Amino acid sequence: MSAEPFKLGAGDAERYWRLRQMMLMDTPWAFASDPESDNARDSSSFISRLSEPYNEILAIAADSGELVASAGVVRRPRKKIWHRADIWGVYVHPEHRRRGLGFAVVKAAVYEALGWPEVDSVCLSLSERSDARGVYERVGFRQWGYEPDCLRLDGETYDEIHMVYRAGAE
Ligand SMILES: CC(C)(COP(=O)(O)OP(=O)(O)OC[C@H]1O[C@@H](n2cnc3c(N)ncnc32)[C@H](O)[C@@H]1OP(=O)(O)O)[C@@H](O)C(=O)NCCC(=O)NCCS
Repeated sequence: MSAEPFKLGAGDAERYWRLRQMMLMDTPWAFASDPESDNARDSSSFISRLSEPYNEILAIAADSGELVASAGVVRRPRKKIWHRADIWGVYVHPEHRRRGLGFAVVKAAVYEALGWPEVDSVCLSLSERSDARGVYERVGFRQWGYEPDCLRLDGETYDEIHMVYRAGAE
C-alpha cells in the first residue's frame, strides 16, 4: 500500500461515501454529523462537492482500492475569513491505525490549504476523547480553546478542543 495521500476527484465519490459511512458509525462522538442527517446522505452529493474549488479531500487507498484514511479541507467563501481554511472528517480505518496514515493525510490537507492564495491559518476541532491530538500537534497545530459540552450523544456529553495551525509559527 502506498501511504502517499492523493486528492479525490468526482470519480471517487462512491468509495469516499463508503469510508464516510464507516467513520460516522465507528466513532459517532468524533463527528457532528450522523449517518441519517449527514448532508451527504448518498454518494451523489460528493460528486459536486469534490468538483468545487477550495474543497478537497486528501485520502490514502489500500491495495484493494478502498479508501482507508481521509482528511477534508475547505475554505468558506467569505472575504473576512479568506485567510483561513478548516479541516474536517479526519479518519483512519481501524485496521490501518498507528502507521502514520493520520499524520500523512492531515499534513497533506494543511499543505494543500497553504497553497491557496492568502491562506495562512488552518483550524480544526476534535473531541477530547479522540486519539488525534498527538497527530495534530506533530503537524504543528496548537490548542486555543476548550469547549465543554460541545456534542451530546445518547445521553452523554463530549467536550471539544479547538486548535489552529499558523504558517510560520511552528
Ligand atoms: C485519530 C486517528 C485519525 C489517528 O490516525 P492514525 O493513522 O492512527 O494516526 P498516526 O498513526 O499518524 O498517529 C497516531 C499515533 O500512532 C503513533 N504511531 C504512528 N506510527 C506508528 C508506528 N509505526 N508504530 C507505532 N506507533 C505509531 C503516533 O506516534 C501517534 O501516537 P500519539 O497519538 O501518541 O502521538 C485515528 O485514530 C482515527 O481515525 N480515530 C477515530 C476518528 C477520530 O478520532 N478522528 C479525529 C476527529 S477530529
